[in-house]
Amino acid sequence: MRQKNPEKMAETIKVLTEEKRLFPPPQEFKESAHIKGMEEYTALYKESVEDPEGFWDRMAGIVDWTKKWDKVFECDFEKPEIKWFLGGRLNAAYNCIDRHLKGFRRNKAALIWESDEGEVKTYTYQQLSREVNRFANVLKKKGATKGDRITIYLSMIPELVIAALACARIGAIHNVVFGGFSSASLRERISDCASNLVITADEGVRGGKSVPLKRNTDEAIADYPCVENVIVVKRTGAGVSMTEGRDTWWHEEISEPDIEEISEPEEMDSEDPLFILYTSGSTGKPKGVLHTTGGYLVYTALSFKWIFDYKDEDIFFCTADIGWITGHSYVIYGPLACGATCLIFEGTPTYPEPDRFWEIVDKHRVNILYTAPTAIRALMRYGDEWVKKHSLASLRLLGTVGEPINPKAWMWYHEVVGKGRLPIVDTWWQTETGGILITPLPGATTLKPGSAGRPFFGVKPLVLTKEGKEAGSNEGGYLVIEDSWPGILRGTYGDPEKKRMKELYFSHFPGLFFTGDGARIDGDGDYWLMGRIDDVLNVSGHRLGTAEIESALASHLDVSEAAVVGYPHEVKGEGIYAFVVLREGMEVPGGFEKTLGGQVKKVISPIARPDKIQFTTGLPKTRSGKIMRRILRKIAGGRTEDLGDVSTLADPSVVDELVKGRK
Ligand code: WT7
Repeated sequence: MRQKNPEKMAETIKVLTEEKRLFPPPQEFKESAHIKGMEEYTALYKESVEDPEGFWDRMAGIVDWTKKWDKVFECDFEKPEIKWFLGGRLNAAYNCIDRHLKGFRRNKAALIWESDEGEVKTYTYQQLSREVNRFANVLKKKGATKGDRITIYLSMIPELVIAALACARIGAIHNVVFGGFSSASLRERISDCASNLVITADEGVRGGKSVPLKRNTDEAIADYPCVENVIVVKRTGAGVSMTEGRDTWWHEEISEPDIEEISEPEEMDSEDPLFILYTSGSTGKPKGVLHTTGGYLVYTALSFKWIFDYKDEDIFFCTADIGWITGHSYVIYGPLACGATCLIFEGTPTYPEPDRFWEIVDKHRVNILYTAPTAIRALMRYGDEWVKKHSLASLRLLGTVGEPINPKAWMWYHEVVGKGRLPIVDTWWQTETGGILITPLPGATTLKPGSAGRPFFGVKPLVLTKEGKEAGSNEGGYLVIEDSWPGILRGTYGDPEKKRMKELYFSHFPGLFFTGDGARIDGDGDYWLMGRIDDVLNVSGHRLGTAEIESALASHLDVSEAAVVGYPHEVKGEGIYAFVVLREGMEVPGGFEKTLGGQVKKVISPIARPDKIQFTTGLPKTRSGKIMRRILRKIAGGRTEDLGDVSTLADPSVVDELVKGRK
């Protein structure tokens, strides 16, 4: 296991800059906000951590329960055992749709979809209800029942939300696979959770290009006969092959007789699984992070409402793909549980021009925009003119997520997009945390560019030194979480004994949840996230394990060994640098970098393709055979003058070759 990484920690601390600018919440914003100031935050936070039972008992009423819980929580991180709202019963899809049909929200837009080409489709809650009910009936007809795993491999189209909620309605567990993943990655995720039904489309569309989703699905399940049904959305009308008896069209299925019949939502236990979402770790294959129903829904609904200060008349635009946790928690469950209007966008920020986001904001009068630092940095490079062409007057709040935001990008977002008047919520969280854990509250927090603010209610983070002592102010260390909160993962798929879960998250510092991130707390108590301290890369906000990329490279017959590290990248945050050793005595064939890039694309996804590949005859290893990544990271990042002690290497001469051959 190469997880805890004090060296990487020290490297990160060194690059910290002292940021002194302060942005208090605008008075006007403060007055109308749900949480109206630091005093209110402090008092409520205190209550939430001193009396979590009372606090969450009160908060859980944000969702509707068919049976009230008997006990608020039962959690023990040592085991680990995590249960919230024990004995409570509810249905997530009912909470996201049906309950809004009783009042004025019935005719309110639930989803506004903008296609890659700029076409708009709107679903009111009533209309969404019909679609979800019909598709739930389709799933039932196919034999799907409570507890089944259903894979959804789609791009950002309304059918993705409809399919996920239809699963939730019948109690099936959805497994959404990002449409940018390859057929091999899809197969891995289908077979790991033994899913027998896949929902896909003929093609996906992004930035004027199409993605062969159906063809990828066919490849993924060609030698995996357990998939009995494939339901295909017609998105582009491209010719695809349909396997008789297995593949059917979405539009035909939902037009069958009887499909309109209202089917009651399945009553679920609070701890029944809601979904699995695969994510990368520092070792091995991606794991299926498991979230359950009650706690997850309470946590995403409450955090959505308060962090984005959501009001019924707002239009909320989260640019994340539903293939990642952000889309699960803050496109589907949090917003819809609150009866919000959510804008979903199929395309990319730069197509057809780099003002697409701003065009969408003006066209739909978006009020809250939630996006990623990588998008901000990319758009910043095209210049302010693209933003200034649009009024953006409807915006009242900005948010970011996915990676640390550098103060320069924060300032640009604040000044150019926010005209110097909008608060920014820099929200820190993870697939495993289910919802946002560290964040400013827009009506309370005095913002500092680059800081994610303070813990959300009920969340008790700690920053520890490698000896496990609490780090001093500004010292920096490992970010861990002390007690449970309702949105935390309940396990990983295929690990009922929770052995893997324990090892991954609760063993580094026994009894504490290990995040894999470094952080420091400044003198005021504000948190500064410093990136991963394990072998997980964050490339454009996408989480990738170095081990996965190494294994994809090594799956090429001519590769004997590969080591992958990250290096600072102006737009992506982190770029991928691969050191590759070929078979003994082999010359590097012409164009081989491209071949290997293609290999990674095929095995994982285009997002995992290395930015740089350096061929070498050896890697820096200790005498016990451990690769010294510290040295590779320094070479990749161009810090070759200070490689540190290389005397413990089995063959120190390899370092010269690596430095000379640096890309
Ligand atoms: C990792 C989790 C959470 C939704 C998207 C990513 C990094 C996330 C921030 C932030 C600094 C951040 C962390 C974390 N991260 N948000 N605001 N500031 N870093 O989810 O794919 O599970 O990745 O993203 O390193 O561990 P994920």
